[in-house]
Amino acid sequence: MLGLIKIIITSLANLIGFSEEVNVERSYRPAKEVHFQITHSMPPQKIEIFKSLEGWAEKNLLTLLKPVEKSWQPQDFLPEPDSEGFYDQIKELRERTKELSDDYFVVLVGDMITEEAVPTYQSALNSLDGIQDETSVSLTPWAIWTRAWTAEENRHGDLLNKYLYLSGRVDMRKIEKTIQFLIGCGMDSKFENNPYFGFIYTSFQERATFISHGNTAKLAKEQGDIKLAQICGTIAADEKRHETAYVKIVEKLFEIDPDTTVLAFANMMRKKISMPAELIYDGEDCNLFNHYSAAAQRLGVYTAKDYADILEFLVGRWKVDKLTGLSGEGRRAQDFVCGLAPRVRKYEERAREKAKKAPAIPFSWIFGREVQL
Ligand SMILES: [Fe+2]
Ligand SMILES: [Fe+2]
Repeated sequence: MLGLIKIIITSLANLIGFSEEVNVERSYRPAKEVHFQITHSMPPQKIEIFKSLEGWAEKNLLTLLKPVEKSWQPQDFLPEPDSEGFYDQIKELRERTKELSDDYFVVLVGDMITEEAVPTYQSALNSLDGIQDETSVSLTPWAIWTRAWTAEENRHGDLLNKYLYLSGRVDMRKIEKTIQFLIGCGMDSKFENNPYFGFIYTSFQERATFISHGNTAKLAKEQGDIKLAQICGTIAADEKRHETAYVKIVEKLFEIDPDTTVLAFANMMRKKISMPAELIYDGEDCNLFNHYSAAAQRLGVYTAKDYADILEFLVGRWKVDKLTGLSGEGRRAQDFVCGLAPRVRKYEERAREKAKKAPAIPFSWIFGREVQL
């Protein structure tokens, strides 16, 4: 009976438009609906493929990691708390960030929060059959890669977080709340525990982060903060190296198992490659992801054109149009993937048209100041 009453109340709430509030009360449930999740879609026998690739991964993947001793650290770019010039360095940082625009801060904060949710991405990688780190200290090259990749990524959020904190231009408490919400809510990866899906996603996503950090670097330079430009550029270089690694894995999968790989590529593109922070929420704006990505689109940091460009790049890099000997289903997937970019570009035109009419929206991250979307 109680269950029935709950259903009726929920339906009524949905009907009169309170559905978001009903969800919001459940703090660690995503503010947005997460659809049914398919699990373990890769046939178990395919796990052998990933076992057989361990020698390859050792040679081709682990060599793309940077040794810790040669890696940059956030402290290399930040005021030195143990130096006499600490306060002057903070003053200089604040002078530099004074000129940065509100919309730039919104996009940079969104990027930083996305980086800060790295525990979620490590979990997602460790959900993939055949490559997961089964003991948290496993010495398979796949597990070593995932841990070291996470450790490299962890510096990105650290650095941007500290820089933004010192700027004094953003509401750190609201940002920290958003990070806690996001990590608590997770990510709708749609990986299905399937490493074919997972590696196609990471190839796409690392290139997307390379592009967006590259663009925030360019904008920081234009708006007069050379140091921040250097920071974003340095992070972008890491993303590029990660992209190289994931693209190589998928290239190898295309070589040894083209049919499954092209089907996986089409499957992921049909589901759309959603950004990892899609479930972002600050406790106030139930549409925060759409608002943040509209700001990024308007500012030219990450746009629908970039999405189409990445897709086109990957199709070319993996020579998808040249694959032969595919099954009927494989050929259909090949046609779909190869013909998708022009359709995305059309969508981009429509998005640009829509952007002209978009409203200004307040963002909690910048003390409720409004940004034109
Ligand atoms: Fe990153
Ligand atoms: Fe990355």
